[in-house]
Amino acid sequence: MSGPQPVDWDERHRGQPPGEAEPFLAAMLARLPRGGVALDIAAGRGRNALALARAGMRVVAVDRSKEAMRSVAATARTARLAIWPMVANLDSFHLKDESFDVIVNINFLDRALFPKFVRALRPGGILIAATFLVDQAAINPPHDPRFLLGHGELRALAGELEIEEYREGLTASLGGQPAFRASMVARRRKSA
Ligand SMILES: C[S@@+](CC[C@H](N)C(=O)[O-])C[C@H]1O[C@@H](n2cnc3c(N)ncnc32)[C@H](O)[C@@H]1O
Repeated sequence: MSGPQPVDWDERHRGQPPGEAEPFLAAMLARLPRGGVALDIAAGRGRNALALARAGMRVVAVDRSKEAMRSVAATARTARLAIWPMVANLDSFHLKDESFDVIVNINFLDRALFPKFVRALRPGGILIAATFLVDQAAINPPHDPRFLLGHGELRALAGELEIEEYREGLTASLGGQPAFRASMVARRRKSA
């Protein structure tokens, strides 16, 4: 039996503006270290990478879509923001240990990446993650239900990180439309 057809992300991203930052991320920007190094996972057209850079961070934005990374590069150049776009497939992406102050993972779910996030954070570094919950299927049938989080699942994916904020339920997202989401800020402990 064949599964869902893959999404053509280049086609979806072509000619589109970056869009507004994720509201949960926007609310957490004040706690991020200015001048720190951030990684935006599956960054798309860079709405969140742009917000991180405007908040004073140096940002690496990774996405498999060339169109998305082209758009990020153009916006960053025009706005003179410190963003380095990288075209890469996260299925086989090496994350160097202890190299990021912040990792942002929004609207993209690859459960296998979370242990890598933990190791790639510097001591004291922060993971900000948010995406849709299983309940969202009733509002908007998903392209692939494997990309929806179960209840409490994001909390469990944090592993040994210390959770500082955790929200699950109906919230404003998707251009102000209510959506069922889980959102989390989790920190790697400073070494003893
Ligand atoms: C729903 S978009 C989210 C974009 C962005 N995080 C945001 O919140 O606006 C999902 C992104 O994941 C990217 N993507 C999907 N599979 C990927 C993979 N294996 N490696 C890298 N990027 C991938 C797509 O190209 C797309 O830009």
